[in-house]
Formats: sequence, C-alpha cells, structure tokens
Amino acid sequence: MKRRIVQSLALTAALFAASSAFAQLPWMQRAKHYAWSDASLSPDSRADLVIKEMTLDEKISLLHGQGMPFFSNAPSESNGGAGYTNAIPRLGIPAIQMADSAYGVTRGAAAGRYSTALPNNLGAASSWDPEAAFEYGALIGRELRDEGYSMTLGGGVNLAREPRNGRTFEYQGEDPLLAGTLDGNVEKGVQSVHIIGDLKHYAINDQESGRNAVNANISKRAMRESDLRAFEIALGISNAGGVMCSYNRVNGDFACENSYLLSDVLKKDFHFEGFVLSDWGGTHSTVKASHAGLDMEQPDKIFFGDPLKNAVESGVVSQDEINEHVHRILRTIFATGLFDHPVVKQVPDVEGGYRIAQQIAEKSIVLLKNRHDLLPLTSAVHSVVLIGGHADVGVITGGGSAQVDAPGGSAVPAPTPKNMMEAIIHRQWLPSSPLRALQAVMPSAKISYVSGDDLQAAAAAAKSADVAIVFAYQWESEGMDLSTLDLSDDQNKLIETVAAANPKSVVVLETGSPATMPWIDNAAAVVEAWYPGIRGAEALANILTGAVNPTGKLAITFPKSDADLPHPKLVLPPPESEINFGAPGADISNIMSKMAKGLPPFQTYYDEGLKVGYKWYDAEKKPVLFPFGFGLSYTTYGYSGLSVTPGDSTAVSFTVRNTGKRAGTEIAEVYASLPDASGEPPKRLVGWARVDLAPGESKQISVPVSRDRLTVFDEASDSWKLVPGEYVIRVGGSSQNLPLQKAVSF
Ligand code: BGC
Repeated sequence: MKRRIVQSLALTAALFAASSAFAQLPWMQRAKHYAWSDASLSPDSRADLVIKEMTLDEKISLLHGQGMPFFSNAPSESNGGAGYTNAIPRLGIPAIQMADSAYGVTRGAAAGRYSTALPNNLGAASSWDPEAAFEYGALIGRELRDEGYSMTLGGGVNLAREPRNGRTFEYQGEDPLLAGTLDGNVEKGVQSVHIIGDLKHYAINDQESGRNAVNANISKRAMRESDLRAFEIALGISNAGGVMCSYNRVNGDFACENSYLLSDVLKKDFHFEGFVLSDWGGTHSTVKASHAGLDMEQPDKIFFGDPLKNAVESGVVSQDEINEHVHRILRTIFATGLFDHPVVKQVPDVEGGYRIAQQIAEKSIVLLKNRHDLLPLTSAVHSVVLIGGHADVGVITGGGSAQVDAPGGSAVPAPTPKNMMEAIIHRQWLPSSPLRALQAVMPSAKISYVSGDDLQAAAAAAKSADVAIVFAYQWESEGMDLSTLDLSDDQNKLIETVAAANPKSVVVLETGSPATMPWIDNAAAVVEAWYPGIRGAEALANILTGAVNPTGKLAITFPKSDADLPHPKLVLPPPESEINFGAPGADISNIMSKMAKGLPPFQTYYDEGLKVGYKWYDAEKKPVLFPFGFGLSYTTYGYSGLSVTPGDSTAVSFTVRNTGKRAGTEIAEVYASLPDASGEPPKRLVGWARVDLAPGESKQISVPVSRDRLTVFDEASDSWKLVPGEYVIRVGGSSQNLPLQKAVSF
C-alpha cells in the first residue's frame, strides 16, 4: 500500500514535470525573438538592449513592489510570497516572485504547499561546513522554483552583537569570516538553480526592539571589520543578486537611504552589481533614497511609484539614475539565469528534502557536556524518560517572516494571538517527535515521556529510569527580542529537579540564541539541538545513541549571564518609536504608512566596536560558559607540528590526530593575534578545516590564510592595511583551546 502511494506520487510528479516542461516551451520560443535572448551576450549588454526599448512607465514598474498578498492588497499575478515585481510581457521580462526563505520556503500552509524546514541558520552554522551550506541553499532554491518563486528573501548575515536579538536564529553567529563564508555558500546554492539570491539586513539591524526607529551609532572601522565584512565575504562567494537594506538608521541616516552604506561601500568597494531592495516598509524617501543607491522599494510603491516618475519628469532624478536602477535589476535577471530558465512549478522532492534536513541537523547539533561519557546511550541503557519541551510530539521552530509552516499544522497548538503581530508570527512545532525517534533507534529499551508540568511526577519518572533527558526550549521570533538569555524559571526548575533525582540526566536545548545554564554543574550531559528542523528528532536520536558522532561547534559564545554581555541591558525604544500593531486582522496599511513616515529615532551605541562575540570576552577577560568554536565529540583529537610560512597567502600547516576509539570529524580552527599596534582584540578567526579521521589516524592539514584575513581598516585613509609587526598564529579545537602557536613577522 505504502509503495503504491509512493508510486502514484512519483507518477503525478512525472506528469507534472512533463506538462510543466511543455508549458515552458511557448515562453522560451517567445524569448528567442528578442535581441537580448542571445545568451552569449553578457548580462550587462542584454540589460542595455532591453533598456533601450523601455518606456518610463515600464522602467518605474520594475522599481517597486505591488503590495503584500497575505494582507490582501496584491494583484492576482502574485505567487503569494512577501514581494512581487511586475513582469513586462511585451519585452519578455519575467516577474520577480519573492518569498521569505531563511531556513525553508515560507507561508506554504495557506497555499496547501509543502516546504522543507531545515535546521535554523545559526544551528546550521555550527557545522562550519561550506558544502553543507551550499546544499542548504540549493535545496531552498529548488523548492522556491518548485513553488513558483524566483527570488529568496533569506540570506540573513547580521553579526550577533546582541545575542538576545529575536532574529539571532536566522543569522550565522558572531564571526564575520565564518558567517560570511557560510551565508555566501547558502546564497551560491540558491543561485545555482537560477533563483535570485539575497543578503540581508544591510546593515547593523542588530536588535528587533525599535528596529524601525533605532539609530545605530558605530565607527566605520568597527563596521568594516565586522558587520560589513560578513556581507563582503558572503557577496564575494555568492554574487548574490539582491541585498536588502535594513529598517534601522545607521549613524544618522536610514539604511535604505544611506549613501555611505549603499553607494560608497556596497556598490563601489564591494563591487556589488545586483540591486538593493528595501526591507518591507523600510523606504522613507524618493529622491534621497534613489540618490543614495536604493534600487527597489518593497513591498509597495509609496516612494518609487508615481513620486519617482514625477521626480524623473521634473528632472530631480536623472534618466541615467533610473537606468542604473533598472540595469541592476535586469542584469540580475540575466546573470542568475532567470530569463533563460523560467520558473516552472512542480511537485517538490519531499523525501530528498527530509534527507538533506537530517544530514545538516546531524552536523549542527553541538555536544556541550558529557560527564563520564554518559552519551552515547548504549545497549546497557534499558529505560529512558524524556521530560518536557513537548518532546512527545515535535521540535520548535523560529518565528516571524522566516517561519516555515509545519506540514499538517503545528504539532503543539499555538496560544491564541493577542494582536496582529502575534497572529502573523504564532509559534509552530514541527512533527518530528524525539520520543518516537528515540523509540525507533532503541527498540529494546523502554522509552517514555512525561510533560514536566508536575515537578514531583518528573522527579519520580527520572528516578525510575536509567537515564532522564529533559527538553528545554527558548522560542524566538522576528519583531521581538529576548528579554534575557535565561530559560524560563519553570524550565530551569524542572532541569534542577530532574538532575537532582537522577545523576544520569541529559539536557537537550532547542534555542535560537545562547542560553545560560545555572544548573550546569548538576547536569551530566548537555546537547544544543537549536531549532533542528523537520528531521530534527531523528538527527538527535542518532547523536544521542552514537549512530552519528557529533561534530558541531558553536558559532556563537554562550556567556555565563546577561551581565557579561557588552550591553547587559537591552536598549529599549521609547513608546513613540514603537509600532503598535492592532488586533488580529487589523488593517496593515496604517502601519505601513506610519513606518514610511519614519518613527522618531532613539540611539544605540555599539561602543564595543571591534569586540563582537568572543573578541569581547577575550578582551574583557570574562570567563564564559562555552566559548566560540567549542563542541565535544565521542572521540578526542590531538594537535601537533605547526608550521607557518608567511606570504601573500600564509600557509598554516599542522597535524590533527584522532586519539580516541571512534571515527570522527574535527573542525580545526586557526586564529591570529595581530601586533599590539593594531589596536585589535586579542585574536580573530582566520581559517578552519573539517578533518575526517578514523581512530588513530593522523592527517596533515594546510589552511591558507589570505592577506585580507590579517588586515585592519584604516579610517584616515579609508583603506585596508597590514600592520607591520609580530603575528601569532594559534591552532586548536576551540577559540579557548589552542595548543599550537607560532609567531611570524610581516
Ligand atoms: C523582514 C524581512 C522580510 C520581509 C518580508 C520584513 O519584516 O524584516 O526579513 O524579508 O519582512 O517578509
């Protein structure tokens, strides 16, 4: 029976694909009639040929959105995603159908569609694996195509200056090289299937509280070396076609009308050839924004519709400037292959999505503590009780515009929304049940579940089992920040209670940010599973039982407490700088026009400057709970024989040996300490390698470190410099365990 269902699914898919291929033909034949259909021409020449034929109205129509379909004010041509730019059928130019897709394609439930929910972005970043990141993006790209979209609105790469930021789960951690490399590969993967990639939120949108009003004060050097560096690296790898400017102000100007960010840095210094689109409602002017380098307003046409046309007709905005915006959009349509490979809807490969989601989850889960090798659970374990966190039915996901809908609906009912915002971002649990997954891989053990609502019952259940596993979570969403990195009091109490009842207690965390752990000394083992996606529980079961040896390492520091953060207290907006969302179903247009006018600013000062994440704790000598780059394995590794040959590309070679009894993959990390005169924090990540090793095996590894991994940004000359002096290269298994070091001079 099961096989028959699979066969009929495959048949439907084949019929669909065949009819879709047929549907594609007329378009392609039509496309051949244009001078710009010649794929041997460069994207720039093709764009220029189109522009010569365009009317002003057609040009303007490319420079703005048409409303948001789920607020019911978009035309029927929209595919139902967050944004949409008109096609120009006369010229064969396709529409740009945009969908949010940070960890999978969003808003499928209403349309009855399936999308794969991958592990969240910060989770996947713990793989430190550019190839996995590419797979992640390519899967998203394929599903976007299958669902009729042509552009992702994912690619978040804001650095975790403020780990309580409600979107930390959507970003790639705290280091610009790691975040930029991984995000670049995600977007390269997206674009590999002719879908337009995106990087966001450019820039310094580092907290959600008051995001539409806040003015982020930060030095040019700090921006260039950290936050903007991540974008620069991601862009260099991916050539993403889109960059979304953010809601906030940066050093006085809104990011979407900030000529330093958009023109001087992004378009000139980073050689960005694609187009800048505003975050949704992040446009605040016509002439200033156009001059500054904004190419497309989304999701509406408040500023880049008639007002922009009027500005051109009255000569305030030149034809050349309009042509430049249009050119960037058209050349992206050609460069990504969207024109030559039109999007055709088809049934997505669900099983393939599951497989990739599980593989990435297995690389993302981080083993943080493992006293007396309690894990992996062996056949000597006869009974395990899972406690709390709805571990009987599912795993939690991150919310907001990134929310990937749970197939069949949330495994745990969402609380009734109190306002419009909550109605949009209600929390969802994916139907990937840790209870069932563990039962499947430990068939001869008794695996049970108690909710943890009753502490006495939880303690009794923990006592009567060989091993107790407590599940705790911290839900995060766009539009709000965490007030603290602490888990809820109830969950902390539950963990304390279970750990007191059974010394063999494991804590599994599902969080989108670091969590504090007041109970750390009492828990025998701790596993950070993040928001692990549609096959999260299956991946977790494999890690817990050792079918998979954990390899993940933290892409973000876990501090001991909020008090150790650069900003112990979140900077909150005054009431006039906040958006008030009405009741569920309220008319969004009022909110959009309030946002468009620009809410009164309030200030944040990122005075920690270059000291983001581990650089802060290093410089301030603050002990942490778990450092950046940390993660345990069921085997152990040794490092030896460092040699460093300085040059334009410095060769860093060393040997890694698997000193334990299991095969494993070690992430070997390379850091550099710059000369004192550089004024840099104590060290920065300059490279890494993932090394597969059989028990007892050694491998010699060479990590090339390019010159620009060692340079600093000099504000006076507006350029990058290598500070002469002594550099110490440090190698090891985490940012705080670097047994090899060697000094070299430049
Ligand atoms: C978010 C973006 C998102 C857009 C469209 C905005 O509120 O900040 O990340 O792409 O909405 O949904």
